[in-house]
Amino acid sequence: MQRKLATILVADVVEYGRLMGEDEEATLHTLNALREVIDKLVAKHSGRVFAGLGDSVLAEFASPVEAVRCAVEAQQEMENRNVDVTEDRRMRFRIGVNLGDVMVEEGNLFGHGVNVAARLESLAQPGGICISRPVFDQVRNNLEFGYEYLGEQKVKNIAEPVQAYRVILEPQLAGQMLGVKAEPTAAWRRPLPVAFAALLVVAVGLVLWLKPWERSVQRQTAEPATFPELARPTRHFRVEQPAELSNADAITIYDRIRHAVVAAYAKSESPYAGVYHTWRRYNTAPYLSATHGRRYVNNYANTPAEAYGTAEKTGSLREGSVLAKDSFEVTARGDVVTGPLALMEKMQSGFNPESRDWRYTMIMPDGSLFGTTNGERSERVQFCVECHIAAGDKHDHLFFVPDEYQVQFLNPGPPAE
Ligand code: HEC
Repeated sequence: MQRKLATILVADVVEYGRLMGEDEEATLHTLNALREVIDKLVAKHSGRVFAGLGDSVLAEFASPVEAVRCAVEAQQEMENRNVDVTEDRRMRFRIGVNLGDVMVEEGNLFGHGVNVAARLESLAQPGGICISRPVFDQVRNNLEFGYEYLGEQKVKNIAEPVQAYRVILEPQLAGQMLGVKAEPTAAWRRPLPVAFAALLVVAVGLVLWLKPWERSVQRQTAEPATFPELARPTRHFRVEQPAELSNADAITIYDRIRHAVVAAYAKSESPYAGVYHTWRRYNTAPYLSATHGRRYVNNYANTPAEAYGTAEKTGSLREGSVLAKDSFEVTARGDVVTGPLALMEKMQSGFNPESRDWRYTMIMPDGSLFGTTNGERSERVQFCVECHIAAGDKHDHLFFVPDEYQVQFLNPGPPAE
């Protein structure tokens, strides 16, 4: 069988079944019109439609750059045509583009190269475009769109995961690479000390946060940390058998220290540090968070962030939302010690595309500021951004409370706003 390298574009109508169910004639009419548009655009970019049944189109291109241009123009044209259509009748496509090896038989193409394109298509948002790493490598320097790394995705029947990227069409994000690690070559072209210093700062933040030294050191020393930044903790009291704390124990400890913990955070200039504890709390008991330094944590959200409880489904929170995560630590010796306060505040759009406009702030146990995004020592909280990016755009960089602790409490006290 003949094989070749080709760029494959797969487009598919979102909710085709629903549209057809509601109005078959109108749906077919719109689909035919849109297919004509796509056919023209494919030809314009020197491509060829090789398959497509009903609501899907498969096309091949010699050039990834042309294929992505075609995808972008197609999505823009659909958006234009949707302007005068009511939301429930809008027809949108998802598009996936892959560059890979395909098999050719009587003008038809199949094989991994096509399967991966179809998988990418399923990952795209309605009206969106999702591309694979080989395509990204070809277009990143040629096409001035934004790109967001979506991580490694599994594809049925293919052992190797596929690295997927979202093409960002918003003009204000042109040239942005979200979640994309700088290529080693690019980083080394910058003056070495700058690149190294930036790396070091992120590393220091992360190390302070995760406290890897504690695993070995903690058992012998009385002091919880030798790092000056964290060596100003408030030690509250000591508990027996710290390794076997139940949820009830954690609640009891928290009840006893909460007043002092909040009072210490409140010394900071953050307007939230002294009031967050009056907001809704989203966890039944303080729980151990490995990613937050093996501390016991709680999750609070203010009134604008009311959707936090359902954001896992709806996807994002609005401007003005503030999430607060206070923490305490129980050392191996049983000392109960205040941990840092982590804040995420949703700022106005454009504040920081990389953090999806979240301002991450870390306040130390004594109320001093460790760092805040786009503000004082912004680089120190970059590690928060880096890790939260992993949660992805779909979830607004949010991770959510572990299932077994989820609940919504309205805490007593005056509303914060
Ligand atoms: C190593 C990964 C990692 C780092 C670093 C990290 N976080 Fe998180 N964060 C998580 C995870 C996982 C959750 C959800 C689980 C939990 O509650 O522990 C979370 C939850 C949160 C939440 C609750 C809202 C949500 O996402 O559901 C806030 C607020 C938060 N983090 C702020 C911060 C701040 C501020 C920093 C930096 C000082 C930071 N995080 C650093 C992984 C991380």
